Amino acid sequence: MLNDSPAYKALQEHSDATQNIHLCDLFAADPARFENFHQILDGVLFDYSKHQITADTLNLLYDLARACDVEAKRDQMFAGAKLNSTENRACLHTALRSPVDPALEINGENVADFISDLHTQMRSISDEIRADKNITDVVNIGVGGSDLGPRTVCEILRSQGDGPNIHFLSNVDGHSLEQMLAALKPENTVFLITSKTFTTLETMTNAAYAKNWAGSTQNFVGITAAPEQAAAFGISSGRILPMRDWIGGRFSLWSSVGLPIAVMIGYARFEQLLAGAAAADTHFKTAPLEQNIPALMGMIDIWNRNFKNYNAHCILAYGDCMRFVPDYVQQIVMESNGKAAPYKTAPVVFGQTGTDAQHAFMQAFHQGSDVVPCDFIVSAKQDHSSQIHHIQLVANALAQAEALMMGSENTAEPHKHFDGNRPSTMLILDDLTPYRVGLLMALYEHRVFVQGALWGINSFDQWGVDLGKSLAKDIIAELSDQGDGHTFDSSTAALTAYLKKRL
Ligand code: F6P
Repeated sequence: MLNDSPAYKALQEHSDATQNIHLCDLFAADPARFENFHQILDGVLFDYSKHQITADTLNLLYDLARACDVEAKRDQMFAGAKLNSTENRACLHTALRSPVDPALEINGENVADFISDLHTQMRSISDEIRADKNITDVVNIGVGGSDLGPRTVCEILRSQGDGPNIHFLSNVDGHSLEQMLAALKPENTVFLITSKTFTTLETMTNAAYAKNWAGSTQNFVGITAAPEQAAAFGISSGRILPMRDWIGGRFSLWSSVGLPIAVMIGYARFEQLLAGAAAADTHFKTAPLEQNIPALMGMIDIWNRNFKNYNAHCILAYGDCMRFVPDYVQQIVMESNGKAAPYKTAPVVFGQTGTDAQHAFMQAFHQGSDVVPCDFIVSAKQDHSSQIHHIQLVANALAQAEALMMGSENTAEPHKHFDGNRPSTMLILDDLTPYRVGLLMALYEHRVFVQGALWGINSFDQWGVDLGKSLAKDIIAELSDQGDGHTFDSSTAALTAYLKKRL
């Protein structure tokens, strides 16, 4: 247990002893602080110098990580151990992009062979869709992990796409569905029905509507671990791409779930995305804790959450093409690590694009009562010709991080006073190639793993989403006049009755 170890108690004492130190003092005391507190991996800079940490803090965090067996747990994950204990499943998304023991079998199936066959199928089906000149549009219907990974990557890489237009439909909102379909033609559209379980209500409702609209399932591809359900829906077996239970939904963009990416940029460049993630895997597996980017990220997250008591974490992506990065990080952190423990686990993760966030909620970050650690994500290169825009964009990221850290003294006009001493991480990518995007996303995956290993929780299940899902079924039945006499609590009964009169 995290808080049983002597390292935890030592960190608590260290936190108490250092609580009044200002970030500016730390930089003043160490002119080489940036040098000492940054790492670069293949064109991705990770600057952690603006956290309220010293070399002593890090040493204690290394002790904590060792006491919590983070490295051993990491090795177990890569080796295919069933770390998802509540579902008795391995967590082998890394095998989709990094070498795995060629003899490893799960449920009697050789993992390496499965992946090799899967990638062959993905290449063939993405090539086929891209080569079909009748196909102008591809719609991915899926939600959560069956949407956010490919949606995030496709949005970042959209300007590099040379295939059909890719659309994403996740919400069970008829407005979005009808608006999207109004601009499409059945004969020119391929639907990818992405659902590991092939039972998720939102996805199945949207898929059924799309099937009816298209008039047949001829242009449908199923991406699922339940091929029999996809077949029952009407998708032909040659158009069903498999998933496996050892690929967690929110870690699945490297699998068949990544098909929209392969269709958009072509399989060769999809492989570059996998190669970037593989580079993050090798780094995570081999770098010592002291230089290990995801390990450092995760340890600093625990410092901020459990010792500095910060409740939230903000992701600020500087560039509209990265607009879904905050949503992706939000799911991967909060669905993985929002779990019960005798201490605080996942913070509230949220975010937006910079500079929009600066004109919305960042006032509160600079002068409000809560300290919110931020990740600034910046690409050094842009995909457009207006250098002045890009300079302004990236300058704003640096300025926000500087302002949060430095603050600005003003006793005469207190409303213009800024305390500063507000921590942030700076992530600068040389560019937004598939390789670097893959690298960045895999670093976030491993960061989440390190958090979970330190908290001693299972990062790979999501039982917390089930209760609401099952309650919704009874309310849907009641609102549709198909109720079976289910007794609701008085609040839900009153709200359901109120709404029913107005539907
Ligand atoms: O939100 C819960 C969840 O189970 C996610 O973990 C998953 O990615 C999403 O729903 C979609 O599930 P499926 O791929 O089975 O439709």
